[in-house]
Amino acid sequence: MSTTSTKMAQTVKNRSSYLSQRVSNLRPSGIRKFFDIVATMDDVISLGIGEPDFTTPDPILEAGIRSLQKGETHYTSNAGIIELRRALSKHLFKLYGVEYDPATEIVITVGGSEALYLSATALLDPGDEMIIPTPCFVSYQAEAFMAGGVAVEVPCKMENNFDLDPDAIRKAITPRTKAILVGYPNNPTGAIASRETLLEVARLAEEHDLIVISDEIYDQLVYGVPHVCFPTLPGMRARSLLLGGFSKDYAMTGWRIGYAAGPKELISGLVRIHQYTIMSAPTTAQAAAIAALEESEKEVASMIAEYDRRRKLIVNGLNRIGLPTFEPKGAFYAFPKISVTGMDDETFAQKLLEEENVAVVPGSAFGAGGEGFVRCSYATAYDKIVEALQRIENFVARHA
Ligand SMILES: Cc1ncc(COP(=O)(O)O)c(C=O)c1O
Repeated sequence: MSTTSTKMAQTVKNRSSYLSQRVSNLRPSGIRKFFDIVATMDDVISLGIGEPDFTTPDPILEAGIRSLQKGETHYTSNAGIIELRRALSKHLFKLYGVEYDPATEIVITVGGSEALYLSATALLDPGDEMIIPTPCFVSYQAEAFMAGGVAVEVPCKMENNFDLDPDAIRKAITPRTKAILVGYPNNPTGAIASRETLLEVARLAEEHDLIVISDEIYDQLVYGVPHVCFPTLPGMRARSLLLGGFSKDYAMTGWRIGYAAGPKELISGLVRIHQYTIMSAPTTAQAAAIAALEESEKEVASMIAEYDRRRKLIVNGLNRIGLPTFEPKGAFYAFPKISVTGMDDETFAQKLLEEENVAVVPGSAFGAGGEGFVRCSYATAYDKIVEALQRIENFVARHA
């Protein structure tokens, strides 16, 4: 063996990990850790899950099955089948009056998750900063990090109903800021953003030449208030990426289908990454998604009505128990403050699970501002929520 190859062999032998620095530094999601424990237990009532308990509505299932039976088992065009992109374009215009060209301004993705990944990767150069109002969906910070960028967290506060804080966002802007990623209706707080704060964010974006990524995956899950679609705000269609999906509104988490819509130049960047990493979103799910948009209005309305019933139950129940909970107007989460117990949110969630077999998620898993809260999902049956509230009441009575 030559000296060089001996040295190389030694280098390989001494490597402590084959993982890249970037992956080694990527923290596992705080949610997963918790569910690994839940999975080993019996008789747990889970308020931890961030997905609908409903099965996908029949018209959507049937469209997926028909597509398979017709032999549609092949790749599709990279951006997704044109029929779906047209249906989505029509849908967004009908709901919000915003227009996207199906041929060049929409890409169909593997869930909203892929749309987030593509957006961060397409926009951020190493060291670029992305402002992220928090608490937020657990993957936002990781997306910035995986793209080589920096996640700059800007906490939202309960006293403002977890709405955006434009002054704090303004203070967080630096010459390296490239984008702001907002997610309303919000996971984990259930907050919606008011038109006023969104308009202020729009003004900041204009002033500092930033792109706004607006994750509106819960857009139809709003209770008694209209959803504000960010690109409809003055000047924002040209400087925003609208991300959405079918997982939540249509109870299609397992189908893995979502989208990004935006100006042609940005979407063409997203499509370039998508074509090399994914090729095309699942073909069956694309066929099913057309039925979601065109044939499931009645089913979606009935799921929303049921979420609303549970929302009232859980919010009133938590407040009655003595865990202050602001009224969430969207998504399917309540976000009670648990400081009355004197525990931090991780301890609260762990002890509640051990002592009462109820799973909730510690608020700190969702970034700055989540400490001292827990996320309770009401995407679970009404009767189970009744039982969970009883158990939480027993727990709080023992510890407050
Ligand atoms: C705010 C938000 N965005 C995106 C996603 C990703 O959803 P999916 O990849 O299933 O479309 C989730 C899932 O929990 C979410 O809560």
